[in-house]
Amino acid sequence: MSKYLINGGKPLNGEINIQGAKNSVLPILSASLLTQQKVVIRNVPRLRDVDNMLKILKNLGVDYQFEDNVVVITPSTLSSYEIPSGLARELRSSIFLLGSVLAREKRAKVAYPGGCDIGLRPIDLHIKALKEMGVKIVEGGGYVYCDAENMEPSSITLDYPSVGATENVMLLATAIDGVTTIANSAEEPEIEDLQNFINAMGGEVSGAGTPFLKIKGGKPLKSVDYTVMPDRIEAGTFIIGTVLTGGEVLLKGARADHLNALFSKIQKWDCKIEWSGGNILVSASGKRGELGIIETKPYPGFPTDLQAEICVLGAVANGSTMIVENLFETRYKHIPELQKMGAQVKVKDRIAVFNGVKELTGAEVNAFDLRGGAGLVLAGLIARGVTEVNNVHFIERGYEDFDIKLRKLGADIIKK
Ligand code: EPZ
Repeated sequence: MSKYLINGGKPLNGEINIQGAKNSVLPILSASLLTQQKVVIRNVPRLRDVDNMLKILKNLGVDYQFEDNVVVITPSTLSSYEIPSGLARELRSSIFLLGSVLAREKRAKVAYPGGCDIGLRPIDLHIKALKEMGVKIVEGGGYVYCDAENMEPSSITLDYPSVGATENVMLLATAIDGVTTIANSAEEPEIEDLQNFINAMGGEVSGAGTPFLKIKGGKPLKSVDYTVMPDRIEAGTFIIGTVLTGGEVLLKGARADHLNALFSKIQKWDCKIEWSGGNILVSASGKRGELGIIETKPYPGFPTDLQAEICVLGAVANGSTMIVENLFETRYKHIPELQKMGAQVKVKDRIAVFNGVKELTGAEVNAFDLRGGAGLVLAGLIARGVTEVNNVHFIERGYEDFDIKLRKLGADIIKK
């Protein structure tokens, strides 16, 4: 298992390109099955999750090429409706292959999905919505068996604005003649990227970015050449890193309008965020500020995927910081690792309270999930001495060339 060795104390300066959004690419790869014609997807980051999704498509009989961040897919060769359990258990996003495979094959079989161990990750909202669309579902032996022969346009109301459940309904609804609506739909930017992708194929989806989506389905979808939007979580991770270390970093191809919740939280730190022409410039003195209370919420609230990263700011902030993780039950696995580095923090259920310390000390720590691992790297950037972050394969699920980009910005980090 690879690890990062980080010698802390170096400011971040320079410029990096922000990768395509992991959480857009994954549903868009699934949506590519909605047509029989060639699909070209650009700005695709080289990530373990992307590789696993492509392996699942290959298992379904779909050929692809992937080079220079461009994926070319031939969806006409789809020859199976059974999503392989090994890969499905590795990848949470396998669950929204359900919607597109059902759209094409009217049948699907998928194992309960896996992914990062940050909570129960149920799929009850997916199942409930698909059943309301007329899909017959039988669950057993760790698998979900679906039959969509009698699917019909429906008015769905999600009990919770689940990103994945919203995406699954969008995908299946494109193949149902008539209008399907989703109330209390997720409003994340990745939903808008998926809407734009489906519409670029000739679909008719509207309402992304609001809690009400409308999908007019039944038309055959066609070939598309699409560029994925930038990854707001990667951009947020580098912004937090720069605020922590001090310095000036230009994030090229980043969308500031996706990060308002983060900007509003770091405004009490001595930093300036400017944006123009699709780039974000963050400059910071490295002087500590206050954070106060941070509650993770569905978009446009503070993103749960930046919770582990903002914990590091909390660990060294002036005064005390309260973090409330409202989305996932066990998304604090990075906290005992931060305590090894000297963080003063108490956790009770979904609440973590930090008393800011002057500095963190390098230590051997373990990543247990993607974003927790990224947070530990940020802690290593400011810790006194050397930090060893183990299990970097978790981090490589979602960050392309993370150590290379940080080194380019002046961090003393190597991968072993
Ligand atoms: C997506 O996961 C993202 N993953 C996650 O990013 C992100 O944290 C999450 O949305 C929230 O923004 C991808 O897009 C591939 P949800 P998803 O369904 O779709 C509960 C990362 O680090 N829920 O919105 O799985 C669920 O348990 C990853 O990049 C049900 O109860 O998230 C959670 O508490 C991690 N039943 C909440 O809803 C369901 O059927 C949010 O889940 C589905 C979800």
